[in-house]
Amino acid sequence: MQALFPSGPANYLFEVAAPAVRFDPTDPALVADPYPTLAALREQAAVQYDERLDRWLVTRHADVRACLRDRRLGRNFRHVGSESEFKAEPLDPRWQAFWDVERWSLLFIEPPDHTRIRKLVASAFTPRAVEAMRAPAERLAGELLDGCLERGRFDLLYDFAQPYSITLICRLLGVPTDRHRDLLDWSHRHVKMYEFDTTEEQALSATEAAAEFRAYVLGLIEERRRSPRDDMVSALVAARVDGGRLSDDEIVSTVVVLLNAGHEATVNTLGNGMRGLLGNRGEWERLVEGEVAPAAAVEELIRWDPPLQLFERWVLEDGVEVAGVSVPRGEVLSMLFGAANHDPRVFDEPERLDLGRGNAADHIGFGGGIHVCIGAPLARIELEASLRAIAARAPGLELVEEPVRVPAFVIRGFREVQVRAAGNRPVRGVT
Ligand code: HEM
Repeated sequence: MQALFPSGPANYLFEVAAPAVRFDPTDPALVADPYPTLAALREQAAVQYDERLDRWLVTRHADVRACLRDRRLGRNFRHVGSESEFKAEPLDPRWQAFWDVERWSLLFIEPPDHTRIRKLVASAFTPRAVEAMRAPAERLAGELLDGCLERGRFDLLYDFAQPYSITLICRLLGVPTDRHRDLLDWSHRHVKMYEFDTTEEQALSATEAAAEFRAYVLGLIEERRRSPRDDMVSALVAARVDGGRLSDDEIVSTVVVLLNAGHEATVNTLGNGMRGLLGNRGEWERLVEGEVAPAAAVEELIRWDPPLQLFERWVLEDGVEVAGVSVPRGEVLSMLFGAANHDPRVFDEPERLDLGRGNAADHIGFGGGIHVCIGAPLARIELEASLRAIAARAPGLELVEEPVRVPAFVIRGFREVQVRAAGNRPVRGVT
Protein backbone atom coordinates (compact mmCIF):
# COMPACT_ATOMS: atom_id res chain seq x y z
CA MET A 1 0.00 0.00 0.00
CA GLN A 2 1.22 3.46 -0.67
CA ALA A 3 -0.73 4.97 -3.52
CA LEU A 4 -0.96 8.03 -1.27
CA PHE A 5 2.25 9.39 -2.73
CA PRO A 6 1.33 10.56 -6.21
CA SER A 7 4.46 10.71 -8.36
CA GLY A 8 5.06 13.24 -11.06
CA PRO A 9 5.58 12.20 -14.67
CA ALA A 10 8.82 10.37 -15.48
CA ASN A 11 11.48 12.93 -16.19
CA TYR A 12 13.77 10.67 -18.16
CA LEU A 13 13.46 7.69 -20.41
CA PHE A 14 14.21 4.22 -19.21
CA GLU A 15 15.78 1.61 -21.37
CA VAL A 16 13.55 -1.07 -19.93
CA ALA A 17 10.63 -1.84 -22.22
CA ALA A 18 7.19 -0.85 -21.00
CA PRO A 19 5.05 -3.88 -20.23
CA ALA A 20 3.14 -5.17 -23.24
CA VAL A 21 0.52 -6.52 -20.85
CA ARG A 22 -1.70 -3.67 -19.74
CA PHE A 23 -1.94 -3.36 -15.96
CA ASP A 24 -4.70 -0.96 -14.96
CA PRO A 25 -5.54 -1.30 -11.27
CA THR A 26 -8.63 0.88 -11.77
CA ASP A 27 -10.14 -1.46 -14.38
CA PRO A 28 -13.21 -3.28 -12.96
CA ALA A 29 -12.31 -6.35 -15.05
CA LEU A 30 -8.93 -6.52 -13.34
CA VAL A 31 -10.53 -6.14 -9.92
CA ALA A 32 -13.03 -8.90 -10.75
CA ASP A 33 -10.24 -11.35 -11.55
CA PRO A 34 -6.67 -10.01 -11.43
CA TYR A 35 -4.89 -13.36 -11.69
CA PRO A 36 -4.70 -13.86 -15.50
CA THR A 37 -3.22 -10.36 -15.90
CA LEU A 38 -0.88 -10.81 -12.96
CA ALA A 39 0.30 -14.15 -14.42
CA ALA A 40 0.93 -12.55 -17.81
CA LEU A 41 2.90 -9.71 -16.19
CA ARG A 42 4.90 -12.15 -14.10
CA GLU A 43 5.80 -14.37 -17.04
CA GLN A 44 6.65 -11.35 -19.19
CA ALA A 45 9.36 -10.06 -16.82
CA ALA A 46 10.45 -10.21 -13.21
CA VAL A 47 10.56 -6.42 -13.05
CA GLN A 48 9.19 -3.93 -15.56
CA TYR A 49 8.74 -0.19 -15.71
CA ASP A 50 5.11 0.87 -16.21
CA GLU A 51 5.23 4.28 -17.81
CA ARG A 52 1.57 5.10 -17.31
CA LEU A 53 1.73 4.38 -13.56
CA ASP A 54 5.33 5.61 -13.34
CA ARG A 55 6.25 2.64 -11.23
CA TRP A 56 8.35 -0.51 -11.45
CA LEU A 57 6.28 -3.65 -11.15
CA VAL A 58 7.89 -6.53 -9.28
CA THR A 59 6.04 -9.75 -9.98
CA ARG A 60 7.94 -12.88 -8.95
CA HIS A 61 8.01 -14.46 -5.51
CA ALA A 62 11.80 -14.46 -5.04
CA ASP A 63 12.15 -10.81 -6.11
CA VAL A 64 9.21 -9.56 -4.04
CA ARG A 65 10.67 -11.33 -1.03
CA ALA A 66 14.11 -9.83 -1.71
CA CYS A 67 12.62 -6.31 -2.05
CA LEU A 68 10.73 -6.66 1.23
CA ARG A 69 14.02 -7.39 2.98
CA ASP A 70 16.15 -4.80 1.19
CA ARG A 71 17.06 -1.98 3.57
CA ARG A 72 17.95 0.29 0.64
CA LEU A 73 14.22 0.43 -0.08
CA GLY A 74 11.81 2.28 2.18
CA ARG A 75 8.13 2.96 2.69
CA ASN A 76 9.01 6.64 3.01
CA PHE A 77 11.81 8.80 1.67
CA ARG A 78 11.41 12.03 3.59
CA HIS A 79 14.14 11.08 6.07
CA VAL A 80 16.72 10.90 3.27
CA GLY A 81 15.67 13.30 0.54
CA SER A 82 13.31 15.91 -0.80
CA GLU A 83 10.08 15.46 -2.74
CA SER A 84 11.65 16.70 -5.98
CA GLU A 85 14.50 14.16 -5.73
CA PHE A 86 11.93 11.43 -5.28
CA LYS A 87 9.58 12.56 -8.04
CA ALA A 88 6.81 12.94 -5.47
CA GLU A 89 4.33 15.75 -5.22
CA PRO A 90 3.98 17.55 -1.88
CA LEU A 91 1.30 16.11 0.36
CA ASP A 92 -1.96 17.84 -0.56
CA PRO A 93 -2.69 20.33 2.27
CA ARG A 94 -6.44 19.83 1.79
CA TRP A 95 -6.00 16.40 3.37
CA GLN A 96 -3.83 17.60 6.25
CA ALA A 97 -5.86 15.87 8.98
CA PHE A 98 -5.28 12.60 7.14
CA TRP A 99 -1.51 13.19 6.86
CA ASP A 100 -1.40 14.09 10.55
CA VAL A 101 -2.79 10.68 11.46
CA GLU A 102 -0.49 8.89 8.98
CA ARG A 103 2.55 10.85 10.10
CA TRP A 104 3.72 8.39 12.77
CA SER A 105 2.03 5.25 11.46
CA LEU A 106 4.38 2.26 11.47
CA LEU A 107 3.46 1.82 7.83
CA PHE A 108 4.68 5.32 6.96
CA ILE A 109 7.96 5.61 8.87
CA GLU A 110 11.46 4.24 8.60
CA PRO A 111 14.27 3.74 11.14
CA PRO A 112 15.16 5.14 13.58
CA ASP A 113 11.54 6.24 14.33
CA HIS A 114 10.17 2.95 13.05
CA THR A 115 12.52 0.92 15.29
CA ARG A 116 11.62 3.01 18.35
CA ILE A 117 7.83 2.74 17.95
CA ARG A 118 7.74 -0.83 16.64
CA LYS A 119 9.72 -2.02 19.67
CA LEU A 120 7.02 -0.64 21.96
CA VAL A 121 4.18 -2.15 19.99
CA ALA A 122 5.97 -5.50 19.77
CA SER A 123 6.18 -5.59 23.56
CA ALA A 124 2.36 -5.77 23.65
CA PHE A 125 2.16 -8.36 20.87
CA THR A 126 4.20 -10.96 22.72
CA PRO A 127 3.44 -14.59 21.82
CA ARG A 128 1.86 -14.96 25.27
CA ALA A 129 -0.42 -11.94 24.93
CA VAL A 130 -1.54 -13.04 21.49
CA GLU A 131 -2.01 -16.67 22.49
CA ALA A 132 -4.20 -15.44 25.34
CA MET A 133 -6.58 -14.19 22.64
CA ARG A 134 -7.26 -17.72 21.37
CA ALA A 135 -9.94 -18.66 23.90
CA PRO A 136 -11.78 -15.30 23.61
CA ALA A 137 -11.58 -15.58 19.80
CA GLU A 138 -13.10 -19.05 19.83
CA ARG A 139 -15.83 -18.01 22.24
CA LEU A 140 -16.71 -14.88 20.30
CA ALA A 141 -16.72 -16.69 16.95
CA GLY A 142 -19.17 -19.23 18.33
CA GLU A 143 -21.45 -16.65 19.92
CA LEU A 144 -21.61 -14.39 16.89
CA LEU A 145 -22.16 -17.28 14.54
CA ASP A 146 -24.95 -18.75 16.66
CA GLY A 147 -26.75 -15.40 16.45
CA CYS A 148 -26.27 -15.26 12.68
CA LEU A 149 -27.41 -18.84 12.14
CA GLU A 150 -30.59 -18.25 14.11
CA ARG A 151 -31.50 -15.65 11.51
CA GLY A 152 -30.90 -18.07 8.66
CA ARG A 153 -29.53 -15.70 6.08
CA PHE A 154 -26.76 -13.24 6.96
CA ASP A 155 -23.84 -11.22 5.63
CA LEU A 156 -20.66 -13.02 6.59
CA LEU A 157 -18.78 -9.68 6.61
CA TYR A 158 -21.15 -7.19 8.26
CA ASP A 159 -22.80 -9.60 10.69
CA PHE A 160 -19.86 -11.81 11.55
CA ALA A 161 -16.31 -10.94 10.42
CA GLN A 162 -16.41 -7.20 11.10
CA PRO A 163 -17.77 -7.22 14.67
CA TYR A 164 -15.57 -10.25 15.38
CA SER A 165 -12.26 -8.73 14.27
CA ILE A 166 -12.85 -5.23 15.59
CA THR A 167 -13.88 -6.61 18.98
CA LEU A 168 -10.71 -8.68 19.26
CA ILE A 169 -8.29 -5.93 18.26
CA CYS A 170 -10.11 -3.49 20.58
CA ARG A 171 -9.77 -6.01 23.37
CA LEU A 172 -6.03 -6.42 22.77
CA LEU A 173 -5.52 -2.65 22.73
CA GLY A 174 -7.93 -1.83 25.53
CA VAL A 175 -10.19 0.28 23.31
CA PRO A 176 -13.89 0.17 24.29
CA THR A 177 -16.13 -1.55 21.76
CA ASP A 178 -19.19 0.67 22.20
CA ARG A 179 -18.15 2.74 19.16
CA HIS A 180 -17.19 -0.26 17.01
CA ARG A 181 -19.37 0.74 14.07
CA ASP A 182 -17.71 4.20 14.09
CA LEU A 183 -14.28 2.57 14.19
CA LEU A 184 -15.20 0.41 11.18
CA ASP A 185 -16.60 3.40 9.31
CA TRP A 186 -13.54 5.59 9.97
CA SER A 187 -11.25 2.77 8.94
CA HIS A 188 -13.11 1.99 5.69
CA ARG A 189 -13.00 5.65 4.69
CA HIS A 190 -9.34 6.02 5.75
CA VAL A 191 -7.96 3.13 3.69
CA LYS A 192 -9.47 4.45 0.45
CA MET A 193 -6.41 6.72 0.35
CA TYR A 194 -4.23 3.71 -0.38
CA GLU A 195 -5.88 3.02 -3.75
CA PHE A 196 -4.80 4.27 -7.18
CA ASP A 197 -8.02 5.98 -8.15
CA THR A 198 -8.94 7.84 -4.94
CA THR A 199 -11.45 10.56 -5.85
CA GLU A 200 -11.52 13.99 -4.20
CA GLU A 201 -14.74 13.00 -2.53
CA GLN A 202 -13.08 9.91 -1.04
CA ALA A 203 -10.02 11.91 0.02
CA LEU A 204 -12.26 14.42 1.77
CA SER A 205 -14.18 11.64 3.45
CA ALA A 206 -10.90 9.99 4.55
CA THR A 207 -9.72 13.33 5.94
CA GLU A 208 -12.92 13.88 7.90
CA ALA A 209 -12.77 10.32 9.17
CA ALA A 210 -9.13 10.82 10.23
CA ALA A 211 -10.06 13.97 12.16
CA GLU A 212 -12.88 12.18 14.01
CA PHE A 213 -10.69 9.15 14.66
CA ARG A 214 -7.92 11.40 16.01
CA ALA A 215 -10.29 13.25 18.34
CA TYR A 216 -11.61 9.95 19.63
CA VAL A 217 -8.13 8.52 20.32
CA LEU A 218 -6.98 11.77 21.94
CA GLY A 219 -9.93 11.44 24.32
CA LEU A 220 -8.91 7.89 25.10
CA ILE A 221 -5.30 8.94 25.75
CA GLU A 222 -6.55 11.58 28.16
CA GLU A 223 -8.69 9.05 30.02
CA ARG A 224 -5.85 6.52 30.30
CA ARG A 225 -3.45 9.22 31.44
CA ARG A 226 -5.86 10.11 34.26
CA SER A 227 -6.64 6.51 35.21
CA PRO A 228 -4.27 3.98 33.68
CA ARG A 229 -5.41 0.41 33.11
CA ASP A 230 -3.69 -2.80 32.17
CA ASP A 231 -4.00 -2.21 28.43
CA MET A 232 -1.97 -1.14 25.44
CA VAL A 233 -3.18 2.43 25.22
CA SER A 234 -2.13 2.97 28.87
CA ALA A 235 1.20 1.28 28.11
CA LEU A 236 1.84 3.59 25.16
CA VAL A 237 0.96 6.63 27.29
CA ALA A 238 3.32 5.54 30.07
CA ALA A 239 6.11 4.17 27.88
CA ARG A 240 9.56 5.61 28.10
CA VAL A 241 11.69 4.97 25.11
CA ASP A 242 15.18 6.29 24.44
CA GLY A 243 14.77 8.52 27.47
CA GLY A 244 11.57 10.20 26.27
CA ARG A 245 7.84 9.59 26.11
CA LEU A 246 5.83 9.09 22.97
CA SER A 247 4.03 12.24 21.88
CA ASP A 248 0.24 12.25 21.62
CA ASP A 249 0.61 12.43 17.82
CA GLU A 250 2.75 9.30 17.83
CA ILE A 251 0.27 7.44 20.04
CA VAL A 252 -2.67 8.49 17.85
CA SER A 253 -0.97 7.20 14.67
CA THR A 254 0.01 3.97 16.39
CA VAL A 255 -3.46 3.25 17.77
CA VAL A 256 -5.12 4.13 14.45
CA VAL A 257 -2.83 1.91 12.35
CA LEU A 258 -3.35 -0.99 14.75
CA LEU A 259 -7.11 -0.55 14.75
CA ASN A 260 -7.28 -0.25 10.95
CA ALA A 261 -4.79 -2.95 10.05
CA GLY A 262 -6.24 -5.06 12.85
CA HIS A 263 -9.44 -5.85 11.00
CA GLU A 264 -9.45 -4.77 7.32
CA ALA A 265 -7.23 -7.56 5.98
CA THR A 266 -8.54 -10.20 8.37
CA VAL A 267 -12.17 -9.51 7.41
CA ASN A 268 -11.30 -9.58 3.70
CA THR A 269 -9.32 -12.81 4.07
CA LEU A 270 -12.39 -14.45 5.55
CA GLY A 271 -14.67 -13.06 2.81
CA ASN A 272 -12.33 -13.94 -0.06
CA GLY A 273 -11.54 -17.29 1.48
CA MET A 274 -15.11 -18.35 2.25
CA ARG A 275 -16.18 -17.31 -1.25
CA GLY A 276 -13.37 -19.54 -2.55
CA LEU A 277 -14.29 -22.46 -0.33
CA LEU A 278 -18.04 -22.31 -0.90
CA GLY A 279 -17.35 -22.21 -4.63
CA ASN A 280 -14.95 -25.17 -4.36
CA ARG A 281 -17.11 -27.48 -2.33
CA GLY A 282 -14.57 -30.30 -2.40
CA GLU A 283 -12.06 -28.12 -0.56
CA TRP A 284 -14.68 -27.00 1.96
CA GLU A 285 -15.48 -30.65 2.64
CA ARG A 286 -11.80 -31.36 3.36
CA LEU A 287 -12.00 -28.77 6.11
CA VAL A 288 -15.37 -29.92 7.42
CA GLU A 289 -14.29 -33.57 7.46
CA GLY A 290 -11.13 -32.72 9.36
CA GLU A 291 -8.78 -33.82 6.58
CA VAL A 292 -7.16 -30.37 6.66
CA ALA A 293 -6.59 -28.38 9.84
CA PRO A 294 -8.07 -24.85 9.96
CA ALA A 295 -4.59 -23.41 10.58
CA ALA A 296 -3.29 -24.90 7.33
CA ALA A 297 -6.38 -23.72 5.45
CA VAL A 298 -5.74 -20.15 6.60
CA GLU A 299 -2.32 -20.10 4.89
CA GLU A 300 -3.70 -21.35 1.60
CA LEU A 301 -6.57 -18.85 1.66
CA ILE A 302 -4.13 -15.96 2.16
CA ARG A 303 -1.93 -17.32 -0.64
CA TRP A 304 -4.76 -17.97 -3.07
CA ASP A 305 -6.62 -14.65 -2.86
CA PRO A 306 -4.58 -12.21 -0.76
CA PRO A 307 -6.56 -9.35 0.81
CA LEU A 308 -3.67 -6.93 0.19
CA GLN A 309 -2.49 -7.03 -3.39
CA LEU A 310 0.18 -4.36 -3.57
CA PHE A 311 2.78 -2.74 -1.38
CA GLU A 312 5.26 -0.12 -2.48
CA ARG A 313 8.78 0.96 -1.68
CA TRP A 314 10.87 3.96 -2.60
CA VAL A 315 14.40 3.33 -3.85
CA LEU A 316 16.44 5.26 -1.29
CA GLU A 317 19.96 4.73 -2.66
CA ASP A 318 21.86 4.54 -5.91
CA GLY A 319 23.02 1.18 -7.19
CA VAL A 320 19.89 -0.86 -6.49
CA GLU A 321 19.19 -3.79 -8.81
CA VAL A 322 16.01 -5.80 -8.79
CA ALA A 323 16.21 -9.14 -10.61
CA GLY A 324 19.31 -7.85 -12.36
CA VAL A 325 17.62 -4.63 -13.52
CA SER A 326 19.05 -1.39 -12.25
CA VAL A 327 16.41 0.87 -10.67
CA PRO A 328 17.51 4.46 -9.97
CA ARG A 329 17.21 6.23 -6.63
CA GLY A 330 13.92 8.08 -6.30
CA GLU A 331 11.84 5.47 -8.15
CA VAL A 332 8.84 3.56 -6.79
CA LEU A 333 8.67 -0.23 -6.79
CA SER A 334 5.22 -1.83 -6.72
CA MET A 335 5.33 -5.35 -5.38
CA LEU A 336 2.42 -7.39 -6.70
CA PHE A 337 1.53 -9.86 -3.97
CA GLY A 338 -1.13 -11.68 -6.00
CA ALA A 339 1.42 -12.30 -8.76
CA ALA A 340 4.07 -13.52 -6.31
CA ASN A 341 1.64 -15.77 -4.43
CA HIS A 342 0.70 -17.47 -7.73
CA ASP A 343 4.27 -17.88 -8.94
CA PRO A 344 4.62 -21.40 -10.40
CA ARG A 345 8.33 -21.28 -9.54
CA VAL A 346 7.23 -21.79 -5.92
CA PHE A 347 3.67 -23.16 -5.98
CA ASP A 348 2.52 -26.08 -8.17
CA GLU A 349 -0.71 -25.38 -10.05
CA PRO A 350 -0.85 -21.99 -8.35
CA GLU A 351 -4.35 -21.05 -9.56
CA ARG A 352 -5.84 -24.07 -7.80
CA LEU A 353 -7.20 -23.65 -4.28
CA ASP A 354 -5.65 -26.63 -2.49
CA LEU A 355 -6.02 -26.63 1.28
CA GLY A 356 -3.60 -29.52 1.55
CA ARG A 357 -0.79 -27.68 -0.25
CA GLY A 358 2.40 -28.44 1.64
CA ASN A 359 4.11 -25.08 1.19
CA ALA A 360 1.16 -22.65 1.33
CA ALA A 361 2.78 -20.88 4.29
CA ASP A 362 5.57 -19.71 1.97
CA HIS A 363 3.15 -17.03 0.70
CA ILE A 364 4.29 -13.44 1.10
CA GLY A 365 0.84 -12.26 2.30
CA PHE A 366 2.18 -10.90 5.59
CA GLY A 367 5.13 -9.14 3.97
CA GLY A 368 8.68 -9.42 5.26
CA GLY A 369 11.66 -7.43 6.49
CA ILE A 370 11.29 -4.67 9.06
CA HIS A 371 7.65 -3.90 8.16
CA VAL A 372 6.52 -7.53 8.35
CA CYS A 373 2.98 -7.72 9.69
CA ILE A 374 3.11 -7.35 13.44
CA GLY A 375 -0.44 -8.70 13.72
CA ALA A 376 0.15 -11.93 11.77
CA PRO A 377 -0.01 -14.21 14.85
CA LEU A 378 -3.28 -12.56 15.91
CA ALA A 379 -4.71 -12.75 12.37
CA ARG A 380 -3.86 -16.45 12.22
CA ILE A 381 -5.59 -17.16 15.54
CA GLU A 382 -8.68 -15.18 14.51
CA LEU A 383 -8.99 -16.78 11.11
CA GLU A 384 -8.36 -20.26 12.43
CA ALA A 385 -11.03 -19.83 15.13
CA SER A 386 -13.58 -18.49 12.69
CA LEU A 387 -13.03 -21.25 10.11
CA ARG A 388 -13.28 -23.82 12.87
CA ALA A 389 -16.53 -22.31 14.16
CA ILE A 390 -18.14 -22.07 10.71
CA ALA A 391 -17.12 -25.58 9.69
CA ALA A 392 -18.40 -27.02 12.98
CA ARG A 393 -21.67 -25.07 13.23
CA ALA A 394 -22.61 -24.57 9.60
CA PRO A 395 -21.00 -27.23 7.41
CA GLY A 396 -23.84 -26.79 4.93
CA LEU A 397 -23.28 -23.03 4.59
CA GLU A 398 -23.90 -21.77 1.07
CA LEU A 399 -23.76 -18.52 -0.85
CA VAL A 400 -27.11 -16.84 -1.39
CA GLU A 401 -25.78 -14.96 -4.41
CA GLU A 402 -22.46 -14.26 -6.08
CA PRO A 403 -20.81 -11.58 -3.91
CA VAL A 404 -19.84 -8.25 -5.52
CA ARG A 405 -16.30 -6.93 -5.22
CA VAL A 406 -15.43 -3.62 -3.60
CA PRO A 407 -14.19 -1.63 -6.62
CA ALA A 408 -10.57 -1.44 -5.46
CA PHE A 409 -7.40 -3.30 -6.41
CA VAL A 410 -5.05 -2.80 -3.46
CA ILE A 411 -7.39 -3.80 -0.64
CA ARG A 412 -9.20 -6.76 -2.11
CA GLY A 413 -12.53 -7.73 -0.66
CA PHE A 414 -16.26 -8.02 -1.18
CA ARG A 415 -18.97 -5.50 -0.39
CA GLU A 416 -20.89 -8.29 1.31
CA VAL A 417 -20.99 -12.06 1.32
CA GLN A 418 -24.59 -13.17 1.78
CA VAL A 419 -24.84 -16.74 3.03
CA ARG A 420 -27.37 -19.10 4.57
CA ALA A 421 -27.03 -22.27 6.51
CA ALA A 422 -28.58 -25.03 4.43
CA GLY A 423 -28.85 -28.71 5.25
CA ASN A 424 -26.69 -28.56 8.32
CA ARG A 425 -25.76 -31.93 9.65
CA PRO A 426 -23.84 -33.29 12.61
CA VAL A 427 -20.19 -32.53 12.34
CA ARG A 428 -17.58 -35.25 12.08
CA GLY A 429 -14.21 -33.69 11.52
CA VAL A 430 -13.90 -30.19 12.92
CA THR A 431 -14.31 -29.66 16.61
C1 HEM B 1 -4.86 -11.69 7.22
C2 HEM B 1 -4.66 -10.56 7.84
C3 HEM B 1 -3.50 -9.64 7.60
C4 HEM B 1 -2.70 -9.50 6.49
C5 HEM B 1 -2.78 -10.26 5.17
C6 HEM B 1 -1.73 -8.47 6.79
C7 HEM B 1 -0.73 -8.07 5.93
C8 HEM B 1 0.26 -7.14 6.24
C9 HEM B 1 1.39 -6.82 5.40
C10 HEM B 1 1.64 -7.40 4.02
C11 HEM B 1 2.14 -5.90 6.05
C12 HEM B 1 3.47 -5.32 5.58
C13 HEM B 1 3.35 -4.00 4.89
C14 HEM B 1 4.64 -3.61 4.18
O1 HEM B 1 5.60 -4.37 4.12
O2 HEM B 1 4.71 -2.50 3.65
C15 HEM B 1 1.48 -5.62 7.29
C16 HEM B 1 1.92 -4.71 8.23
C17 HEM B 1 1.23 -4.44 9.38
N1 HEM B 1 0.15 -5.12 9.91
FE1 HEM B 1 -0.82 -6.63 9.04
N2 HEM B 1 -1.96 -8.00 8.06
C18 HEM B 1 -3.03 -8.69 8.59
C19 HEM B 1 -3.56 -8.57 9.86
C20 HEM B 1 -3.12 -7.68 10.80
C21 HEM B 1 -3.64 -7.56 12.13
C22 HEM B 1 -4.72 -8.44 12.76
C23 HEM B 1 -3.01 -6.52 12.70
C24 HEM B 1 -3.25 -6.03 14.10
C25 HEM B 1 -2.49 -5.90 15.00
C26 HEM B 1 -2.04 -5.99 11.74
C27 HEM B 1 -1.19 -4.92 11.96
C28 HEM B 1 -0.18 -4.54 11.10
C29 HEM B 1 0.70 -3.42 11.35
C30 HEM B 1 0.68 -2.49 12.56
C31 HEM B 1 1.60 -3.36 10.29
C32 HEM B 1 2.74 -2.37 10.10
C33 HEM B 1 4.02 -2.96 10.59
C34 HEM B 1 5.22 -2.10 10.29
O3 HEM B 1 5.21 -1.33 9.34
O4 HEM B 1 6.19 -2.23 11.03
N3 HEM B 1 -2.14 -6.72 10.60
N4 HEM B 1 0.34 -6.42 7.41
